[in-house]
Amino acid sequence: MSDKLSLFHRTLNQWYRAHGRQHLPWRNTNDPYAIYLSEVMLQQTQVKTVLERFYFPFLERFPTLQSLAKATQDEVLQMWQGLGYYSRAINLHQTAKLCPNGLPDSVDALVALPGIGRNTAHAVAAFAFKQPVAVMEANVKRVCARIFSMEHPKEPELWQRAGELLDARHPFDYNQAMMDIGSMVCLKRAPLCHQCPAQSICTGQFSPEKYPAAKASKEVKVRKKRIVVLVNDREEYYATARSSRFLHGLYHFIEMEEHANAAPLEKNIYLIEQNDFIGAIRQQYSHFTLEADIYRVLAGKKRGIHWHTARLLTTLPMSMAEQKILSLLEISPKIAATS
Ligand code: ADE
Repeated sequence: MSDKLSLFHRTLNQWYRAHGRQHLPWRNTNDPYAIYLSEVMLQQTQVKTVLERFYFPFLERFPTLQSLAKATQDEVLQMWQGLGYYSRAINLHQTAKLCPNGLPDSVDALVALPGIGRNTAHAVAAFAFKQPVAVMEANVKRVCARIFSMEHPKEPELWQRAGELLDARHPFDYNQAMMDIGSMVCLKRAPLCHQCPAQSICTGQFSPEKYPAAKASKEVKVRKKRIVVLVNDREEYYATARSSRFLHGLYHFIEMEEHANAAPLEKNIYLIEQNDFIGAIRQQYSHFTLEADIYRVLAGKKRGIHWHTARLLTTLPMSMAEQKILSLLEISPKIAATS
């Protein structure tokens, strides 16, 4: 190993001891399941949200991989409610069922499991099993792009560079430290290069904003819909679990095009009246914004397995849009309908 690289490893290690987020709970456990859970939650969600609202309640409800395997999908989705990207929860559950004896310790076996991509496999291998592999989530990608002045970095090159930089003797601390400089020092805008432990090797530090080049921002599509909540004469609500890939398994009401004025239900059709309108919701998803007008329509004596009391409705897994609708219906939880 070159002197330059070993100097970087030493400086990074000292920086991590002095400034790193060593207190994070998933950095203070040897339990592969707890580490894996944190990595899945952190795939698309910020540390603060995971830490303050989701990580501990989930672990309390499902303390082991085996307890997770025994749960129903509805129970797992319920604990994931509000975290978004629900396929993560479904894959987590599948993985638990596929690993009755615990998670495997090799990258190859980990990537073969549902929902575990290369980065998550490396993170679990490095953090839970101390394997000498490099983690490369979004922040580390930026750090690498800057260290090597890559304007348009391609994945294979990034992985190769990340592997070259790795401190193979200390994969745990090294990878956690790289993530920390990515989120605390090597910021997207106005990075704090003078504080950075990678100054001795970083070739991009004199014009860091150039690396990587900003991607053109995509236009966010708006989808306008009408959503009808059917209520029968017993004050039961009609809701079914989605079978689509998107929001799979989460419960929803009847969704229709913006101007449709009749809600179909099995053999019946319910006409929508102006005074059925109860409010509007707005929900941002990764690839579109949903704007929906919500109607509450009386359905008379309809009965069946898809009809739920208000109390039961609050125990079903629902995404944020449906929770906002519950709030308009004055069924807890209360969330602002347009946030
Ligand atoms: N993002 C993904 N993994 C992380 C970790 N272990 N610590 C902080 N942020 C992360």
